[in-house]
Amino acid sequence: MWLEDFLASKRNTSGFSHSKIILTGEHAVVYGNPAIALPFPLKVEAVIEEVTSGIIVESTFYTGPLEQIPTKLEGIRACIQQVLIALKRPCDKLKITIHSQIPIGKGLGSSAAIAVAIVRGLFSFFETKLDDKTLSAFVHTAEVYAHGSPSGIDMATAMSDTPIWFQNGDIVRLEVTSPLHFVIADSGRIGNTQKSVSRVRALYSNDEVLKADSLRRMKVIAFAAKSAMAKGDIQKLGKLLNENHSELIQIGVSEDGLNHLVNTARSAGALGAKLTGGGDGGCMLALTDSKEKMEEISSTLTSAGAQQTWCFTIEP
Ligand code: PMV
Repeated sequence: MWLEDFLASKRNTSGFSHSKIILTGEHAVVYGNPAIALPFPLKVEAVIEEVTSGIIVESTFYTGPLEQIPTKLEGIRACIQQVLIALKRPCDKLKITIHSQIPIGKGLGSSAAIAVAIVRGLFSFFETKLDDKTLSAFVHTAEVYAHGSPSGIDMATAMSDTPIWFQNGDIVRLEVTSPLHFVIADSGRIGNTQKSVSRVRALYSNDEVLKADSLRRMKVIAFAAKSAMAKGDIQKLGKLLNENHSELIQIGVSEDGLNHLVNTARSAGALGAKLTGGGDGGCMLALTDSKEKMEEISSTLTSAGAQQTWCFTIEP
């Protein structure tokens, strides 16, 4: 290693974020309905280092100069460039290394979490204070490329360390009064949120009555789920998750593989189960009443074909 590189490599900082799961209200949230989302502990770290030339991005999906980043990561490029302009450092020589545990295209909010980690890392590297409003504005840039017209729920949850109630950009932290044990299972198929959101938009715009009924029912589910969480009524919460899944089937964003995992979890004793995120593949979640049941459902889902499962508990 050259001395210059060695000295430069000594100066590095990291920004962090995490994945998310949507408990209720995905898709409806795009139309101003409320939704509940939970921080999910798959981590992203963006390491920022000084190097001797250019701006280099290193990640599992692309390593090379920022200007040559592939189209599907254009949002990240735009976000980095805007941050560097705002920090008056557009020509600095940097390496941005992304370490992410979040699978891509599985409804776990990887694009928002990566952008949050990068923006936090860059502000920290240049020793500049970062408030939530500024962070949101930069991450929104990346999310517009990734999702078209995002509701902002992914970004809000990637920035939060508690469950949130999200509506039209307003965020309320939610209290949990009894432990919530979840199993998340990956169907193995990659969803495309931009496409599923556009399909729902086409469906709704062709049928105003269906749109109003569907959004009204999902709004009732979201409010009831919030109240069940506050009361610690997990049986009721489970039923509401099942109802929410039926609504998502009605608007055409579920598919056979996800329905199979949802039904498997219910037959194995889950209190409720539904897809989570954009759908068309990606992940489903199941709510259980104990750690033992959670482990049992996790292995049943693996035997039923889930590519990967995660167990996690939200403690009061
Ligand atoms: O990024 P995903 O697949 O978790 O989906 C985000 C949730 C949607 O409601 C489908 C889209 C949005 O912008 O809120």
